[in-house]
Amino acid sequence: MSAVPKDGYDLVVVANRLPVDVSLGEDGEPTWTRSPGGLVTALAPVMAQADGAWVGWGGSPDLTLDPFEVDGTQLVPVTLSADDVERYYEGFSNDTLWPLYHDVIAPPAFHRQWWEAYRRVNRRFAEAAAAQAARGATVWVHDYQLQLVPALLRELRPDLRIGYFHHIPFPPLEIFAQLPWRKAVVEGLLGADLIGFQRGGDAANFVRVVRRLTDLTTRGQVVTITDEHGRTERHVRAAAFPISIDSAAFDALARTDAVQERAVEIRHELGNPTILLLGVDRLDYTKGIRHRIKAYGELLQDGRLSPSETTLVQVASPSRENVGAYAQLRDEVELLVGRINGDFGQVGHAPVQYLHQSFPMEEMAALYLAADVMLVTALRDGMNLVAKEYAAARSDDRGALVLGEFTGAADELAGAILVNPHDIDGMKDAITYAAHLDPREARKRMRRLRRRVLGHDVNAWSREFLAVLTAVPQRDSHV
Ligand code: F6P
Repeated sequence: MSAVPKDGYDLVVVANRLPVDVSLGEDGEPTWTRSPGGLVTALAPVMAQADGAWVGWGGSPDLTLDPFEVDGTQLVPVTLSADDVERYYEGFSNDTLWPLYHDVIAPPAFHRQWWEAYRRVNRRFAEAAAAQAARGATVWVHDYQLQLVPALLRELRPDLRIGYFHHIPFPPLEIFAQLPWRKAVVEGLLGADLIGFQRGGDAANFVRVVRRLTDLTTRGQVVTITDEHGRTERHVRAAAFPISIDSAAFDALARTDAVQERAVEIRHELGNPTILLLGVDRLDYTKGIRHRIKAYGELLQDGRLSPSETTLVQVASPSRENVGAYAQLRDEVELLVGRINGDFGQVGHAPVQYLHQSFPMEEMAALYLAADVMLVTALRDGMNLVAKEYAAARSDDRGALVLGEFTGAADELAGAILVNPHDIDGMKDAITYAAHLDPREARKRMRRLRRRVLGHDVNAWSREFLAVLTAVPQRDSHV
């Protein structure tokens, strides 16, 4: 157990990354830039209203900083050494858990030294959170990098209400069971009072894992934790809370003159293609970028799409570049893009515009508005917020969304054209259908998409999660 801080916070968010990236400027002083991620946008309003602190890594190795305040939220940096970054972040988080939890699309690597680093760093995050939380506070832990934090934190601070949200898929037992440290991970998560997942299927996978790997009893979505005498100690609930975006803000951004004009300009710069297809992803093997480009190349080859009248813009933002599978994917994608442009391009026109870059939200909104067809054909994805952003941007009720069945978004977005991204022929048919969609059908579909996205935004997501979490009876503690 650890001491309750005198001036602790009522709400503490714990995530691998802080909502800002921190680095040392040329003068040796720390400077920060806001990270544009969904989680930051999601939690900003909640944090603004609460007396809140955010515990996370600033994004640079070996940087030790004192807590500082941004927009009324206390940011508490956790230091990761270069070795921690290599073993805990790039290694165990992104080369073991990430591929394992995404249906082993890439082979997960199991290394005991990485696991040791994961345990060590999770403990550091738990201690940092314990030092910030007021008595009886709510602590909300985020994602697969920090699955051991709930139990470590409960040990340190039994007075806290602890929630955990899992942003990526939770795999079926048969895959999860490959993990040599599977039991420790399940026990880590069960330290929470509430475990949120993107889809009902993820929550069901987790409950099945609990049933098979522990002696605990489960009833529906509720796991009963007992003490050494078999007496009920507490309950843990596992349930789906699909995450969303700040839909109204995105809709408003896409309606601005600047964005509308930029959308027209983008089409013009691309030579006013008859059909503009768009893919926007982190350059990650789960996103199905290779499959998508292959399908597109075949459509050009078959003459079902005209190379001179069609453009595919593929934004692939750089990600996790020190992990081998990501470097390999980049080579494969760039080879494929080069081949297609070499075979089907003309002077002044490349059928694939490949952009290995990140862009500000305004430019993304303009790209969404410019695109006739949005391709979100991930092989596996916890949710996929790009699909929701596309719908939020399209207040003109035009455009079409081709969406992979194995994304969390597919459970919600009934107006999308669903595809199995492994089925190249099926994907070719879906892309052709979307590219020539009757405008009335397009409007009908887009209205359905927008109803869902605008009706369930990220504020609703965090509100619903925190309402269930704070309904957990306060634990009497003698800390
Ligand atoms: O989707 C999971 C996630 O961890 C997001 O929270 C994050 O925006 C994205 O992957 C990129 O992660 P990283 O922190 O590894 O760059």
